[in-house]
Amino acid sequence: MGSILEQLNEAVEFIKKQYSATPEIGIILGSGLGNLASELKVELELPYDEIPHFPISTVAGHSGKLIFGELAGRKVVAMSGRLHFYEGYRAHEVAFPIRAMKVLGIHTLLISNAAGGVNPSFRVGDLMIITDHISLATVNPLVGKNEESLGPRFPDMSEPYRKELIRLARTVIAKLGYEVREGVYFGVTGPTFETRAEYKMIHVLGGDAVGMSTVQEVIVAVHAGLHVFAISVITDLGIREADNIITHEEVLQAAMEAEPKLTGIFKELVKAI
Ligand code: HPA
Repeated sequence: MGSILEQLNEAVEFIKKQYSATPEIGIILGSGLGNLASELKVELELPYDEIPHFPISTVAGHSGKLIFGELAGRKVVAMSGRLHFYEGYRAHEVAFPIRAMKVLGIHTLLISNAAGGVNPSFRVGDLMIITDHISLATVNPLVGKNEESLGPRFPDMSEPYRKELIRLARTVIAKLGYEVREGVYFGVTGPTFETRAEYKMIHVLGGDAVGMSTVQEVIVAVHAGLHVFAISVITDLGIREADNIITHEEVLQAAMEAEPKLTGIFKELVKAI
């Protein structure tokens, strides 16, 4: 298998043989939010299963490829299809593509996801800028031997979501005429949606939204020194008086409806960074 450094080098060498430009910004497209890819001037697509050491995505709604190209005149690399812990990947495997994008040259990572709302003022379809997260209910991807050349043993997490990018996003979103919420994303492993008691607990603990992705990606990105911005689409509400059955289909539907807004925001943000 080789060390993590050897694996990263092999993956990046393979990519660089086919793509000589340096991407500046990485983008992770969440559930049902993959259409941003259609806004890209695509230069190269690489399915994960062709890239050495890349884990392979299996969930419906996740296509699983790296897309290289231009968005708003900037070189970007997008992960179309993200990797989730609940699929059976180890936490550090979820981290691999982010580390590879960093070695390829990105300085900034933009993330989207679908999340359940636990803040009672939220509505389905709302967008939420993630200002902070709680990751204690997931496995930390940095557990294990630390590779100092990738990042420090004990990374500071006081500003995982860069204030500067949040400010920029607020401006961009206001210009587009959209409303946006801000709040704390609570990471869980899934794949079960939460029980009613769990949604309530997450709110009591300080979460505004809950989801099965993102926190591990952000931890690895911060460890690697990347600047991170993330935004959630609220696809369902965890705390309701009525019977509350949540389905994957409803989550995908709400994410797809919010997609044009999110695409616009990411495009303008990339331009402004
Ligand atoms: N819980 C966890 N993950 C989610 C949810 C939810 O309600 N909605 C979308 N992803």
